[in-house]
Amino acid sequence: MSLAYLNGDFRALEECHVSVLDRGFIFGDAVYELIPVYNNKPFQLARHLQRLARSMNEIAIQMPYDDQQWQTIIQSLIDHYEQDQCSVYIQITRGVAARDHAYPKSVTPTIFVMVNPWPKVLDTYLTQGLSAVTREDIRWHRCDIKVTSLLANVMMKQQAVEQQAHETLLVRDGVVLEGSSSNVFVVQGGQVFTAEKNNLILPGITRDVVIDLLQQCSIPLIEQAISIEDLSGVDEIWITSSTKECLPVTQLNGQAVGNARPGKLWRQVYDAFQTMKSL
Ligand code: PDD
Repeated sequence: MSLAYLNGDFRALEECHVSVLDRGFIFGDAVYELIPVYNNKPFQLARHLQRLARSMNEIAIQMPYDDQQWQTIIQSLIDHYEQDQCSVYIQITRGVAARDHAYPKSVTPTIFVMVNPWPKVLDTYLTQGLSAVTREDIRWHRCDIKVTSLLANVMMKQQAVEQQAHETLLVRDGVVLEGSSSNVFVVQGGQVFTAEKNNLILPGITRDVVIDLLQQCSIPLIEQAISIEDLSGVDEIWITSSTKECLPVTQLNGQAVGNARPGKLWRQVYDAFQTMKSL
């Protein structure tokens, strides 16, 4: 039985209940974080908490805890969890109120934290890579806020699944911004490109980590989204996220990416990531 945290109490996940009038349920009026856990420690916790605070600030929900309080809650759940590989999921909604679109005047946020099993990255993903498809990005213009209203992402991921692919890369105004649940890096002529941070992408924590590693490895990075026309001719594509780390995409819309094998620069960054993770 997995332990979870709801509004100040630790209890079994099955015993956590939220009102149907919760604005997270009614409007998707909520933000979230997903934090990977390595060696029983949350990875890049400070960055995740900073992004959570930013998301909350953007939608005017008051931050209930300081970093130390978050750390205590999160570590208690991890310590109670019995499996090695897990991730921590935090969700904060505006709270319970009569249904009305405008923010209610006085409402207490719902705070929920759980630990989830984290399926190991399959060896074939590392040896053969993933497949992806491209689709028009149908999301709103505040993709920088990590909100739980993910219907567009869910629909676009489903399009990948229906084509036996692993991820959908999202294209807006002719450029590739990110994946349905990942950031995207491409390699062309020894240079790495990734979309710049703005309102059209989620500022991924794994993206930041990979950028740190590129700097350490002296691999040049350009923060600029690549056009959909150029994407078909690139040497490598990688996707990054807290659950996928950094994985190579070797098939795009049914065509080979580069030589259809995980690339050399991906391997260098992936190895650096594994080393960093175990420190
Ligand atoms: N999603 N872009 C989108 C749209 C995402 O949903 C995610 C992650 C990322 C990568 O962010 P990070 O490196 O901080 O995980 C980029 C998480 C894993 C999820 O929704 O489960």
